[in-house]
Amino acid sequence: MTGQPMVKAEGVHKSYGAAHILRGIDLEVQNGEVFCLVGPSGSGKSTFLRCINHLERVDGGRLSVDGQLVGYREKSGKLYELKDSEVAVQRRDIGMVFQRFNLFPHMTALGNVMEAPIQVKGESKAVARERAERLLDRVGLGDKMGNYPSQLSGGQQQRVAIARALAMEPKLMLFDEPTSALDPELVGDVLDVMRDLAESGMTMIVVTHEMGFAREVGDSLVFMDGGVVVESGNPRDVLGNPQHDRTKAFLSKVL
Ligand SMILES: Nc1ncnc2c1ncn2[C@@H]1O[C@H](COP(=O)(O)OP(=O)(O)OP(=O)(O)O)[C@@H](O)[C@H]1O
Ligand SMILES: [Mg+2]
Repeated sequence: MTGQPMVKAEGVHKSYGAAHILRGIDLEVQNGEVFCLVGPSGSGKSTFLRCINHLERVDGGRLSVDGQLVGYREKSGKLYELKDSEVAVQRRDIGMVFQRFNLFPHMTALGNVMEAPIQVKGESKAVARERAERLLDRVGLGDKMGNYPSQLSGGQQQRVAIARALAMEPKLMLFDEPTSALDPELVGDVLDVMRDLAESGMTMIVVTHEMGFAREVGDSLVFMDGGVVVESGNPRDVLGNPQHDRTKAFLSKVL
């Protein structure tokens, strides 16, 4: 792979008050890569995704997305905090899918997917609708476009949430345990959509406990614990032959 990485973290630190959560994260996510992030509860995975998505400013080190610093502008070697409106513009290019789908309950699946391009980008309804129909078709919900979230299963709602994120035509997709709130029989359809997205070349960071998905679809895997990267590499290698005791202990619980 060539060019600058999509995400580059160098010594990233983040604290909430006195709680020092991220303690020097170093990693690179290349364009087109499926990058899996695993680790115990509380290790800082969601916090790190929130930093990438400009929902949090890092307070030490450097974090950039597609060559742009997150939350700061650099001028003559000094960092200046960006205004909220500038942060919002950067965030548009990043799609995020959470464990809980957070669909708008008063809108149909189609309405949910059309909403952001119209509101945020000022797109016409016709253009937004055409894309939303195509995306819902792609996630296997061509026949459910008129359903409200309450009329969809959890797995279907999550696929709408993925289509909704894709409607903004992001250059990077972040997934934070997208299947962990789902009944087991609904997980496969969501993973299939993610696999299809990966095959289309989307750059994806996926926090997951689905080690089968990580092994089959992932290009890289990072094991995080206590706010640092403990071990990283090819998912087959890290999962099959972990080098660190903390990685071994974690995998023995989840595999
Ligand atoms: N807004 C916040 N204010 C204060 N503390 C926070 C905040 N968000 C997260 N934390 C703390 O930061 C730590 C890391 O949380 P984070 O959600 O990043 O962990 P995680 O690795 O995603 O865990 P899980 O697997 O349970 O989702 C936790 O101890 C959490 O309590
Ligand atoms: Mg989390």
